[in-house]
This record gives sequence, structure tokens and C-alpha cells, in this order.
Amino acid sequence: MDEPIRASKDNPFRPVAEIDESVPSVARVYDYALGGSHNFAVDRALAERVFKVVPGYRDFAHANRSFLRRSVLWLREHGIHQFIDLGSGIPTVGNVHEIAPDAKIVYVDRDLIAVTHSHMILRGHDNAIVLQAEASDIDGILGHEDVRDLLDLSQPVGLLTVAVLHFMSDDDDPAGVLAGYHDALAPGSMLAMSHASGDDLKPDMTAAAVSEFKLGSVSVTPRTADEVEGLLGPWRAVEPGLVRLDEWHPEVEPPAQRKSSHGYAVVAESTR
Ligand SMILES: C[S@@+](CC[C@H](N)C(=O)[O-])C[C@H]1O[C@@H](n2cnc3c(N)ncnc32)[C@H](O)[C@@H]1O
Repeated sequence: MDEPIRASKDNPFRPVAEIDESVPSVARVYDYALGGSHNFAVDRALAERVFKVVPGYRDFAHANRSFLRRSVLWLREHGIHQFIDLGSGIPTVGNVHEIAPDAKIVYVDRDLIAVTHSHMILRGHDNAIVLQAEASDIDGILGHEDVRDLLDLSQPVGLLTVAVLHFMSDDDDPAGVLAGYHDALAPGSMLAMSHASGDDLKPDMTAAAVSEFKLGSVSVTPRTADEVEGLLGPWRAVEPGLVRLDEWHPEVEPPAQRKSSHGYAVVAESTR
């Protein structure tokens, strides 16, 4: 894992890599889709090409962010007071520490811009830190001193993988990653996951979107409902199970008004 970045006054931010403005980043493409301003021309160009082949991509981004909010509110109601947000992205509005201000949060992303902005936003917050890491680096993340200082890993954790696992191919073994966290986190922990899917798109639209992302050096693996469910492994889905993004507990808070069926959402509990 790269040098972790902790949001505190006495630990000034040091970039761990140069930002290459000629290569698009999913964090910034997603930021652009949400209407954010932390993106470069190369990100906007890729996003616009994806909007052309999948006009609902913007809706997916909003529906996804809305699911993040509802799932955190729901998890809080169900006794979760500490979160690990894998692939947390560029902090637009509605970050976990704003949704659950009394909770402790570890944000994790591999993208330097996402981590830099998170660091700036978290300055002065004692209950949230950000690490630049690969989500799959379970030991590096859970074993990190700052994570151990902030979270009580003997207590349940809410693990968030919101719109991130479709950036892992089957070779990256996302199911193995989720199983690894399951076994490492305390009983009572819960998982909130959302995932892109082509189930409601014509196959050529999905293929065109994947190919546009690939041309932009971004590998995306949309999965069917069965495949997404297959990632859960030892995690057991709680009611209502795996559903389309807008169908997941809409009573918690009305979902983003735009409709999107380009993704699935599920919350699951540990079986430890
Ligand atoms: C589409 S954004 C989702 C952001 C946020 N979770 C949300 O739903 O609003 C995906 C984020 O996951 C990050 N990401 C993708 N693969 C990752 C990996 N293997 N490890 C850590 N971060 C990853 C990207 O850098 C990006 O910021």
C-alpha cells in the first residue's frame, strides 16, 4: 500500500504520485457524471462518449449516490457506527461523514485526486481518515495503525463497496476480496454493495460502454444479477435482497428522482 494519508493538522498532505492529466480516471469521470468539477478534459471526453452509448449513465451515478446515502442511514439505524468506504471516490456532496456525523469512517481509494480532495475536506475531522490503497489490500488496510487507532475492529463495521467492484475483473477476484473482509471483520458487520449491470440494456449498448471505457484505459466488468449475487459468498443478503438501485428501501428517503436500472444494490450481514 502507498503511504497512507491521514487527515490531521500535524500531518500535512504529501502527494504519493504525479497526476497524469492525459489518462482518464473513473473517479473523475464519475465526478463529472454527478455534476462535479474535479475532472479534466480527458475525463469529460470519456464521460461524453459513454453518455452517447448509454444515455442513462448519469442517472446511474445519481441513483448510486442516492443508494449510498440510504444504505448508510439504514446501517446506522441498525447499529453500525463505524464504516470502511472502499472506492470512496471524489467527495462530492453527501459523503459518509456527513450522512453519519457521529460515526467513524475510513475512506479508501486508489485515485490520487480522490484521496487529495478527501484529505482537504477531512482536515479538522477527528472521526474520519482517508487512505490511498487498493481495496483488495485487506491486511494493509485493516492492519494500518491509523485504522486501528480510529476503528474498534472488535466491533461491527459497515463495509461499503458502492459502485466499485465492477472495476474488478473476475481475475481480480472481487468475491475473494469480499470474503476476506467478511472473515476479518467482527461478527455483526454488514456490507452495502452496488454494482453496474447491463441486464436492462441492449447487449450492444453494454459492449459499447465497456469498449469506450477500455479505450480510455479503464476496465469495467458489468455483471448480471446472478453474478452480483455470486460475489456475496459468506455475506447473507438482508431484506429485500438484491434489487435495482432505486428499489432498495425507498422508504428510508426518496431515491434520486432520475430512474436508473443500470445497477443493483444489496445490503448483507456477516454470517460469522
Ligand atoms: C464510480 S466511483 C464510486 C464512488 C463512491 N463509492 C460512490 O458510489 O459515490 C468508483 C471509485 O472507486 C475507485 N476504485 C476503483 N477500483 C478500486 C480499487 N481496486 N481499489 C480502490 N479504489 C478503487 C475509483 O478510483 C473511484 O474513485
